Amino acid sequence: HAISLSLHRAELGPDYIPSLPSHPHAPTPDKSELPVPRLEDSVRRYLAAQKPLLDDEQYRNTERIAKEFQKGIGKQLHQDLVELDKKNKYTSYISGPWFDMYLSAREPVVLNFNPFICLTPDPKEAYNKQLLRATNLVVSSIKFLNSLRSNCLRPDIYYVNPKWSKSRPFKHFIRFLPSSVAWYGALLVNAYPLDMSQYKCLFNSSRIPKLNKDELFTNECARHLLVMRNGHFYIFDVLDHLGNILHPSEIKAYLLYILQDADHLPESSLCYLTTEDRNTWAKVRQQLIEEGNEENLMKIDSAVFCLCLDNSSPKDDDELSHCMLHGNGFNRWFDKSFSLIVTSDGTAGINFEHSWGDGVAVLRFANEVHRNSTRHPALVPQSALSAVKCERLEFKLNDSVKSAINTARMKFDKTKQKMFVRQFRFQKFGKEFIVKQKLSPDAVFQLACQITAYRQYGKMVSCYEACSTAAFKHGRTETIRPTSVLSQQCSRAFVEERSKHAVAELRDLIDKCSRYHRRLQLEADMSPSHFFVKHHGSVGFDRHLFALKHLAASKGEHMPEFFLDSAYQRINHNILSTSTLHSPAVHLGGFGPVVPDGFGIGYHVFDTWLGCNVTSYLDKEQQEFLSSLELSLNDILDVLEGNPLA
Ligand SMILES: *[C@@H]1O[C@H](CO)[C@@H](O)[C@H](O)[C@H]1NC(C)=O
Ligand SMILES: *[C@@H]1O[C@H](CO)[C@@H](O)[C@H](O)[C@H]1NC(C)=O
Ligand SMILES: *[C@@H]1O[C@H](CO)[C@@H](O)[C@H](O)[C@H]1NC(C)=O
Ligand SMILES: *[C@@H]1O[C@H](CO)[C@@H](O)[C@H](O)[C@H]1NC(C)=O
Repeated sequence: HAISLSLHRAELGPDYIPSLPSHPHAPTPDKSELPVPRLEDSVRRYLAAQKPLLDDEQYRNTERIAKEFQKGIGKQLHQDLVELDKKNKYTSYISGPWFDMYLSAREPVVLNFNPFICLTPDPKEAYNKQLLRATNLVVSSIKFLNSLRSNCLRPDIYYVNPKWSKSRPFKHFIRFLPSSVAWYGALLVNAYPLDMSQYKCLFNSSRIPKLNKDELFTNECARHLLVMRNGHFYIFDVLDHLGNILHPSEIKAYLLYILQDADHLPESSLCYLTTEDRNTWAKVRQQLIEEGNEENLMKIDSAVFCLCLDNSSPKDDDELSHCMLHGNGFNRWFDKSFSLIVTSDGTAGINFEHSWGDGVAVLRFANEVHRNSTRHPALVPQSALSAVKCERLEFKLNDSVKSAINTARMKFDKTKQKMFVRQFRFQKFGKEFIVKQKLSPDAVFQLACQITAYRQYGKMVSCYEACSTAAFKHGRTETIRPTSVLSQQCSRAFVEERSKHAVAELRDLIDKCSRYHRRLQLEADMSPSHFFVKHHGSVGFDRHLFALKHLAASKGEHMPEFFLDSAYQRINHNILSTSTLHSPAVHLGGFGPVVPDGFGIGYHVFDTWLGCNVTSYLDKEQQEFLSSLELSLNDILDVLEGNPLA
């Protein structure tokens, strides 16, 4: 499956963003529809990504299958997809299949799907106390909710020219345009309002386990907050019936009550059930309902969001990643659209369920809430408290349910022990140096990963780089495939043929990879591609092929050979799942590997250094990967500085 903590391209600087050909006579796009690529383009791109992964014979076979698909059943499927897309003007062609993909997946959401981001501490030390910080973050989150409700949250904008993002009048201008024409306004200055539809499910929402396919649930009039402490569930209204937020000192008083009341762990914590396989959980949930817990479950599902007040203080960034990614299992409700987690030492982070939305939406929320809660904290360190009580949810658990919880706990404890998280920092160069070399920072990091994987596996492996298509209506994500014949050549040269190439040759290989990678980004990327797409008819191939496969499956006829090809399966077994993410509000971010034998790599190229946070179930391989990554980056540095490989 595809996991993505989508990127904020605008952060990558002017070097990164391709300038658009100015087309004085280009037709103005009527709306930001995510275009269905041409089938021949997708197949061509698919084969280009497959080539380095296959030997000659395998490739010829896959090529034959792909060409037959393109001429035969694939052509029909593609036509049907285009027809369907034309009929569904209100959404994108990928939206339905993508929701289906997430909601039909039966693996536990934790580790397999839910990403996390950890917020940077409040710059004012005294504000980093658990109770105070939790209160201020809750207040800022509710302010965000109120802005959404009253529709005054300005649309997220993707700026082709980052200079604009700093222009206040422009933001103002866009904000007051009705959403139906905001697009045109933005177009005038080459900025693109992002699709805001995902925010529908940010608040008051939860994923509900159902047999074979889950459902997303939103309660539009919920007013209560769910608070978890030591595995207990508490709720209290944070909004009154007019939608006014409770006084911050009252919120703090409730949280204090909860901290004091939940002084011990419950005999069984229901939370573990949300770490289960979805079918198992769906069945137990049915039992819970039959035993009279429906109302309590509804209270959890409809809560505005979930606040987890943890009873622990992670010692370092690795422990912090574990805490935010999966925690100890008894103080999280992983089905909630998002949980705000605040540890004993006041460190805060967000763990979010992925089916309803992508990183761009959550990152925006995190940025605003971080800024608002640090610049305009609702409460100062010493504020008076009143005495309050709030409702603790008590569940009726019979022996079958208790035993299901116990099984879930044992499974979860075992799995989380196998999850390794490691930080990696490389201090010798960063974005500034790479840009001076006229290379793309993203391409250089990706290339280093390719070389590293080649050294480790002795061959190229499937690699996934997430990018956002939120510039399009109901756009989600697209995949960039950094593996290519060029990155294969380069990897060989750096690993197997170290003494055979002159520095200038190696440099030339790096240049070629960088240019190729940039072109891929241009094709898969969000807004510039809009023009690009209109005029060149191209975007990444993954979502298009996925939609065709989904369509074939939904017709119930036999699955085309193309999708049964072992090479197709293999390219979708992403050993390297990568995503970059950065914001001043975010200290750390990450996600689990998407396959049992793979790595989840959250990375960022900073001005003067670069780094990543890597998750894996394989301890030794992970260490090997990271030390080899260091080697690859050193090699690249040598070549860029004109030195022969050591
Ligand atoms: C942040 O806080 C200030 C002061 O309380 C408020 O005026 C502003 O609207 C808030 N911003 C958001 C996005 O809620
Ligand atoms: C969530 O509930 C609040 C409070 O009732 C409401 O104002 C808001 O519109 C709801 N949001 C959604 C997305 O339903
Ligand atoms: C627990 O409750 C469920 C649902 O009512 C029922 O199917 C199950 O048999 C009960 N188990 C026990 C041990 O009573
Ligand atoms: C990885 O972790 C380090 C902390 O060691 C952090 O500074 C960096 O921002 C993280 N990178 C990402 C992409 O989250």
